[in-house]
Amino acid sequence: MRKLSLDRILQSQGFGARKWCRQLIETGEVSVAGEVVDDWRATYEVDAPASLAFTIYGETWIYREYVYVALNKPPDMECSRKPSHHPGILSILPEQFTWRDVQPVGRLDHDTTGLLLLSDDGAFIHAQSSPRRHVPKVYRATTQDAVTPELIGSLMAGVQLHDEPAPLAATWCHAVGENEIQIVLEQGKYHQVKRMLAAAGNHCKALRRSAIGGLSLDELGLEVGEWCYLEAEQIAILGNAPALEAQ
Ligand code: URA
Repeated sequence: MRKLSLDRILQSQGFGARKWCRQLIETGEVSVAGEVVDDWRATYEVDAPASLAFTIYGETWIYREYVYVALNKPPDMECSRKPSHHPGILSILPEQFTWRDVQPVGRLDHDTTGLLLLSDDGAFIHAQSSPRRHVPKVYRATTQDAVTPELIGSLMAGVQLHDEPAPLAATWCHAVGENEIQIVLEQGKYHQVKRMLAAAGNHCKALRRSAIGGLSLDELGLEVGEWCYLEAEQIAILGNAPALEAQ
C-alpha cells in the first residue's frame, strides 16, 4: 500500500511545485471526499485505481499514477511540444498535463486529423512507438487522382521511399471511394502515408487516422478536438487487430 502526503499528490498530478501545492492546501482550496483539507501533511492511499478523488477550485480530479489519453486531433495543430507554425496539441488539454510531461505517442502532421494517443508513462510511449511492436494504424486518405487497382496493388506490394533501405508495404489497403482509400500501416515512418501515395504516383489531399490497433475513434465517440482518458481495457485493445471502418 502506497501512501502519499497531499502536497506530493497534487505535485504528482501536475498542479505545480510543492511549495505552490502546499499554499493551495493551506488556503483551503483543496477538498478530499467532499471535505476541505488544509493540512498538506495529511496522507492518502493512492494504489487502487480511482482510489482518491480531490477537488481544486471546484473541479474534481481522480488521482492517476499515469495518464493515458485519446484525442481526436483537429487540423492545423502541431504535435510538437515546441510548435513553430500552428498551436500545439497540448494547448487543448488541461494545463496539468503539460506539467506532468504528457506527450504525444508518435506524431501526426499538422494537417492530419484523427486518433492521437498521449501519455506521461515513458514505458507505454516507448512500447507503442517501437517499430518492433508493429502496432497497426488505420488511416483514411483522400487522393488527388482517382484510386485505381494499380495504386492499391503498389501500396500492398511495397513502394520505395527515398531514404528507406527497402520498399515499404501497407499491411492492408482498399478503395473506399473514387478518391479515397483505407490503409493500414505498421511502420510509423515520417509522413509515411503521404510519401507512399506520392511514390505510387498519386497525391494525398487529406488524411485522418481512424484507429490504432483495436481502438477506434468511432468506438470512443470523440468529436474533432475532444479527448478522453483511456482505461485499462481500452489500452489492452491497442494490441488487437486493426479496427477497420465500415465503408
Ligand atoms: N502518414 C502521414 O503522411 N502523415 C501522418 O500524419 C501520419 C501518417
